[in-house]
Amino acid sequence: MPVDHKDYVEPDNWLSIQELKRTLGVFCRLGIEKIRFTGGEPLLRRNFLGMVSEVSGLQQLRDVSLSTNGTQLKRYAVGLRQSGIQRLNVSLDTLDQEKLKRIVHRDVLDVVVDGLMEAKRVGFELIKINSVLNDETTSSDIDRLVGFCAEHGFVLRLIEPMPMGKTGRIHFGLTAQNEKTRLKATHALIDDIVPGAGPAQYLRSADGKIRVGFITPISQHFCEACNRLRLGADGTLYPCLGQNDSSNLRDILRSGGTDEDLENEILSVVNRKPERHHFVEDQSKIIRIMAATGG
Ligand SMILES: C[S@@+](CC[C@H](N)C(=O)[O-])C[C@H]1O[C@@H](n2cnc3c(N)ncnc32)[C@H](O)[C@@H]1O
Repeated sequence: MPVDHKDYVEPDNWLSIQELKRTLGVFCRLGIEKIRFTGGEPLLRRNFLGMVSEVSGLQQLRDVSLSTNGTQLKRYAVGLRQSGIQRLNVSLDTLDQEKLKRIVHRDVLDVVVDGLMEAKRVGFELIKINSVLNDETTSSDIDRLVGFCAEHGFVLRLIEPMPMGKTGRIHFGLTAQNEKTRLKATHALIDDIVPGAGPAQYLRSADGKIRVGFITPISQHFCEACNRLRLGADGTLYPCLGQNDSSNLRDILRSGGTDEDLENEILSVVNRKPERHHFVEDQSKIIRIMAATGG
């Protein structure tokens, strides 16, 4: 969360576990097969494991994953496996302790690394490390992350900052495209085509120990392939991270709406998915913070 952010949605407005399960059941009947819990920080939600257990039991689901800042991972890793989380993405922008402290405003490097080791120990496979490039990111930060991920079998993803709220608006640092070219040369990486891998474009080493994905919503957007919908904790459904449009499913749920009403609203949002975002052309338009919609 941005440091000065106070305007969060009060828990009374959040969907209960049963409301969420009902809503996600409707999504599944419409063909959704993959769900990712993100945020905000999912592991701060009370009874998060109970929520995951309920949701992961939905019949049509074949993939349930979690994005987390990793600070609670050591405590929750076993429970996450047991409740049905299959894959983990963990945020770690740098392995430089002081730099990380400046970015997240807390001294969490050791805690996050401990959490990652615990997640690996309890059997999570294909753990992805999400690193957002920022003005302080250097090639040496990235090389350290590449080495760390290769050593522990994690997949590194380098993410271009998107202009959300006050963050990601001005970025003078190194670019994902330049880093891609550099890493290809310095680490002898080759293109890795992974069907169905989502928005990241991957490189890998010949022995497969290094895998680095590049998520480039700004320099090379992937809107034409975006099939994602984002459901806020309060039941707001967003067709696009980069547009202000949304619908409120909570009102339907709490005013006696039927599953068909939910279905119709969801389909209307799908139909309103815009052709593409306009982060670059019109930065003034994006008023939401990332914590409202999830990354
Ligand atoms: C918004 S976070 C939410 C989940 C969880 N708290 C976490 O830290 O992963 C999900 C992902 O979005 C990334 N992210 C946050 N702000 C971003 C921005 N402005 N542009 C691009 N990615 C961003 C985070 O680094 C993280 O990898």
